[in-house]
Amino acid sequence: MPDNPLKKPDISVTIAGIPFKNPVIAASGTFGYGREYAGLLDVSALGGICTKGLTLEPRAGNNGVRLHETPSGLMNSIGLENPGIPAFIEKELPHLQELQQQGVVIIANLSGSSVKEYAEGARLLDMCGVDMVELNISCPNVPSGGIAFGRDPEAALSVARPVRKALHKPLIVKLSPNASDIAAVASACVAGGADALSLVNTFKAMAINIEKRTPVFDHGSAGLSGPAIHPLALRMVWELVRALAAQSTAVPVIGLGGISRAEDAIEFLAAGAKAVQVGTATFTNPTAMLEIIDGIAAYMKKKEIFRIEDLSIQ
Ligand code: SIN
Repeated sequence: MPDNPLKKPDISVTIAGIPFKNPVIAASGTFGYGREYAGLLDVSALGGICTKGLTLEPRAGNNGVRLHETPSGLMNSIGLENPGIPAFIEKELPHLQELQQQGVVIIANLSGSSVKEYAEGARLLDMCGVDMVELNISCPNVPSGGIAFGRDPEAALSVARPVRKALHKPLIVKLSPNASDIAAVASACVAGGADALSLVNTFKAMAINIEKRTPVFDHGSAGLSGPAIHPLALRMVWELVRALAAQSTAVPVIGLGGISRAEDAIEFLAAGAKAVQVGTATFTNPTAMLEIIDGIAAYMKKKEIFRIEDLSIQ
């Protein structure tokens, strides 16, 4: 008798019509453009890669300290350093497309200072070979744009709608944990045309150098990520999935925030996320994502759960 095919867990997922071979995506800003990690892990085994936040023009990023470790966490204030969308398309995308041919979903993270800049960025990304766009309205480290659009529903809608108009590819909106009403911002993004939501970006946080008696970061605050934020992010994903279900809004949620082990990812999938992104963990353990993929499959086998969506306890 042939084996029952259902005995092997299927770890593939489909988000906004795009098939992923597994639910683990490299989070924006922590994985460069894929090739930086080529010598350290089999990048082609990932479900997807989210690029560093891209803006229309190149950006040099912030001055001063950019990274600062905290107990179980990492603060960053990079300031969206990136080569600009045209240079990304010319210099970085060809390598990412090689990975795409091996089944890795390529997601461009799009940022900007103004609605016009976001929309023009979306137009350029629409014409190139990326699979999806993740709209970044949650970067806490830039003086204009970023989180300024992600804090309130009207501002989020004002950028999601024109980006949607310029983009024919699936649109993910990356939400901020710093919004006072995340569900309201999420609903506005869906009304504006988001096909999926990802959360959380970093928490606005601060560190002070007590020797120099100055803030560590030139902008005062920075974004906190890493295991320290995992329980907070998990709660936010749980609540958002519930809120969307209560409104009968069938938009998939991608969970992120402090995932460093398979167990952390499984918690997000149990909270109702359809996929996860892994970021900070990669800095200390470059193979973390591969361990997480294997760990999810092993857990499903042990629990006799055969589809990722059945991990949800919502
Ligand atoms: C940064 O570049 O400062 C961080 C990007 C982000 O939080 O989206």
